[in-house]
Amino acid sequence: MEAIYRNADVRHIKNPCFNPAVDYPADLNGILGSALIMEAQDEISRWDGYSPTPLYPLCEIAGAIDVKAIYYKDESRRFAPGSFKALGGAYAVEQLLKREVSRRLGREISLGEIRNGRYAKLTSGVTVATATDGNHGRSVAWGAARFGCSCVIYIHRHVSEGRCAAMESFGARVIRVEGNYDDSVRQARLDAAKNGWYIVSDTSYPGYMTLPRYVMAGYTVMIKEALEQIPDRTAPTCVFLQGGCGGLAAAIAGYLWQALGEHRPRLIVVEPVQADCLYQSVSACRRVDVNITEESSMAGLSCGEVSILAWGMVQAAVNDFLSMNDDLIGPTMRLLARRQNGTTPIVAGESAVPGLAALLAASWQTGLRDALDLGVDSQVLIFGTEGATDPQIYKNLVGAYPGEICAE
Ligand SMILES: Cc1ncc(COP(=O)(O)O)c(C=O)c1O
Repeated sequence: MEAIYRNADVRHIKNPCFNPAVDYPADLNGILGSALIMEAQDEISRWDGYSPTPLYPLCEIAGAIDVKAIYYKDESRRFAPGSFKALGGAYAVEQLLKREVSRRLGREISLGEIRNGRYAKLTSGVTVATATDGNHGRSVAWGAARFGCSCVIYIHRHVSEGRCAAMESFGARVIRVEGNYDDSVRQARLDAAKNGWYIVSDTSYPGYMTLPRYVMAGYTVMIKEALEQIPDRTAPTCVFLQGGCGGLAAAIAGYLWQALGEHRPRLIVVEPVQADCLYQSVSACRRVDVNITEESSMAGLSCGEVSILAWGMVQAAVNDFLSMNDDLIGPTMRLLARRQNGTTPIVAGESAVPGLAALLAASWQTGLRDALDLGVDSQVLIFGTEGATDPQIYKNLVGAYPGEICAE
């Protein structure tokens, strides 16, 4: 097993714009501030069915790569959508409905009133729409069902049938658009403008900044839980994160900077080489779009444009960027599924494992291990950001359906 990681082609760049300041800079407060974070964490903890997702120590893997500890935050059971994205899009839907109902009534209402369905008649007249690779759309569809509005989701040619069906199962109308992700974004915006629908996007762009802030604030629930779950609450020394449009990395980075200041861990973002917009942007010290010509199997990370808000945070707060091809995805999913010696098997989707895959590759490649400062004292936090969000793709890569793994 070691050989595939040792020989993997993983590219690394250290962030030349990293800001080592102890105090959280005021301009970043405008992207993700403490009031926004606390409101999101308080509200999401009141949602029906909320409970922290598990944090598993991967002792056997930590031993094999000679680091002190690896903690894997397993988002596979995060509410019904089964990914960390459930914390973002659905929360933005709730905030949007609060704003819309308040506007229509001419007075401010609370999130609790949206949550308990007090204005169900008004919310049922609202339609939210988004373009998606899968997980964000699933979260928006689930949020729309939960908070009582209609939902239209735009998917592109490469989104799997399984992921389409999952969104439909939450009651969303799903429209498949010829072309790629960018074409689905364009179509969603056109149709929303024509029909008076509200776009709920996880990425920000000129003129669209409010809801993506709520999305990022929602994601911070995951890191807050993880810090509380690590034994003795010792801070991790480094965190590996998957990167798509950068919202996840920005949320984790902003929270850690505010919570831990100078003791914040080293942050390492991992992307597919086919869609490495964060890596390319950091290399150029400005936002760079990547034209995706080949889809990665890491479907959730197949994103060619960095979110404007996320970029503001990521360029200051993330230490390192890695990119890699798809070769390590199947082996890493299988490694988690076949955990032995009394440890719980972990069901992780294709976009959940790049962080762990990159950690293994980096640990076994001497130059990279040194460059990332990995050593016997390293305590590594990893986010398993999704479960088997397409069971058939999971079976093709792992050799068993997710239910068979969990039953073992
Ligand atoms: C499972 C999974 N992990 C990580 C990410 C990356 O998140 P972001 O696009 O906010 O960078 C995504 C994005 O959809 C995802 O679906």
